[in-house]
Amino acid sequence: MSLHPRFQATIEENCTKVTTNQNQLVLQNQFNTIMTHILDNIASVIAPQLTDVLTKQLNALKLLPPILPHNAMLGLPNEQYSVYNTIVNNLGSLQSKKYPFFFITGSAGTGKTYITKLIINWLKSQGRSFLLTAPTGVSAQTVGGFTLHSALRLSQSESGYHTLAFHDPDFKKYLQTIQTLIIEEVSMVSASLLDFLSNMFARIHNSDIAFGGINVILVGDLAQLPPVRGEYVFYSSVWHLFYPLFLHEPQRQYDDQQFYQMLEEIRFGKISDSSWTKITEKAANYDANPTSDWLLTTTHIIGDQINRTICNILPVDGDKYLLAEAIDFMEGKRLQPENSQTEFKSKTNMPPTIRLQQAARVMYLNNSLIEDGICNGTVGVVTDLDKNIPSVQVAFCIQGAIVHKWITRETSYFYINGQRASRTQFPLQNAFSLTVHKTQSLTLPTISLDLSQLFPPGQAYVAISRCPKWEHIRIMSLNRNAFMVDSRIVDEYSRLKK
Ligand SMILES: Nc1ncnc2c1ncn2[C@@H]1O[C@H](COP(=O)(O)OP(=O)(O)OP(=O)(O)O)[C@@H](O)[C@H]1O
Ligand SMILES: [Mg+2]
Repeated sequence: MSLHPRFQATIEENCTKVTTNQNQLVLQNQFNTIMTHILDNIASVIAPQLTDVLTKQLNALKLLPPILPHNAMLGLPNEQYSVYNTIVNNLGSLQSKKYPFFFITGSAGTGKTYITKLIINWLKSQGRSFLLTAPTGVSAQTVGGFTLHSALRLSQSESGYHTLAFHDPDFKKYLQTIQTLIIEEVSMVSASLLDFLSNMFARIHNSDIAFGGINVILVGDLAQLPPVRGEYVFYSSVWHLFYPLFLHEPQRQYDDQQFYQMLEEIRFGKISDSSWTKITEKAANYDANPTSDWLLTTTHIIGDQINRTICNILPVDGDKYLLAEAIDFMEGKRLQPENSQTEFKSKTNMPPTIRLQQAARVMYLNNSLIEDGICNGTVGVVTDLDKNIPSVQVAFCIQGAIVHKWITRETSYFYINGQRASRTQFPLQNAFSLTVHKTQSLTLPTISLDLSQLFPPGQAYVAISRCPKWEHIRIMSLNRNAFMVDSRIVDEYSRLKK
């Protein structure tokens, strides 16, 4: 008996959903097992009232990998399928009558990263070599890749970008084998960096064509965060080569389409009166006395003071508390961090002070533990500390796992106006509050925002769009300027659409 195609589709969709839900349960159970194992291991060093706080936080920070059922393509929404199909059928060299350069774009949460993962699976199935990169540690980790700087061994000086590819023949040989370069969160890549990458691969392949003729897939939303330094990526001389593929349908806000419409208005700065009323009402109804449970399980995109507020509500067990001050030197002379911070802050991201105690949320600040899945931006919870060494044990939540590690202080060396300087500190910062930069690409179940502080374009949009549901967002304070949009981005999208 043959089924009507629509019924067939429904059955297949449901089959996918059942296995997806079952897989989700398996992952959830695995996470619980890891968490129980860690809690059992630290039972002797942690007070019972802290175990509860720790469990709640680890649950709030858990990052389960998205499930890609082996028949995921069948369940894809049409437009995602179309983007996937276009890449699969057309990615290749011009000589083989294919096209090497694509740009997958669309609003926050439309599934750009999800599709990228499916494309990666396809590249793997074809035995094609690829390099999956992103400009920040967090976005690289979300997609399962490497930062551009670590993958291509890049550094930057006054004179521009440099790569070790031209000093290390083995590394150059490895790069020569890459057939496809994928760059996630490309809005944060500057025009000069994209130009540099194109020239770099051209030089590696002794070629004068863009990117030396390899395939390149850019992924991102230009309306999200711009590069920290430099011009928008669409001012790159190779930008016009990229063929845009658009996604429009919400996946992150799938269950709250009204909220998605509001996000669409915010994205291009055309906020309707009714949306603005909703936003201002939310800010006016901010609960100034939230419960400690809510404070502990929410991601705060708010100033630093919330760290102190939340740490103050955490119980302290015995002497397991450390206010770690940075040890700063300039030309052999010890400096007080409160005096050196103004000059030091552009040279090191290690903080002048950090408060370390059990159940405090902290963020790792460099990429030296990348092999453990921990990058600059990975968040974890302190489980123990030893003041004698001093060192601190942190349970870091990475995709699908918890990595439990002792962290000690490190020294970073740099020059300030030609003078030798150094800072010794834990490569950690208090992280009950995050900056918008550390959240781009993430999906966060509950968030609390201070929108009076976010000025550069795109920040308010990125912050608000992290959350699947409008009702799970709290707005502490508001400033209309936080919603400003750069008209050059709107213009670029009009051009791309044409
Ligand atoms: N086809 C799909 N089926 C199931 N879940 C999906 C699908 N597409 C996307 N999602 C889920 O929707 C959420 C948002 O998707 P994703 O992170 O890929 O969006 P994005 O466009 O990359 O967003 P951003 O611009 O914020 O990086 C994720 O939780 C993702 O797993
Ligand atoms: Mg993404």
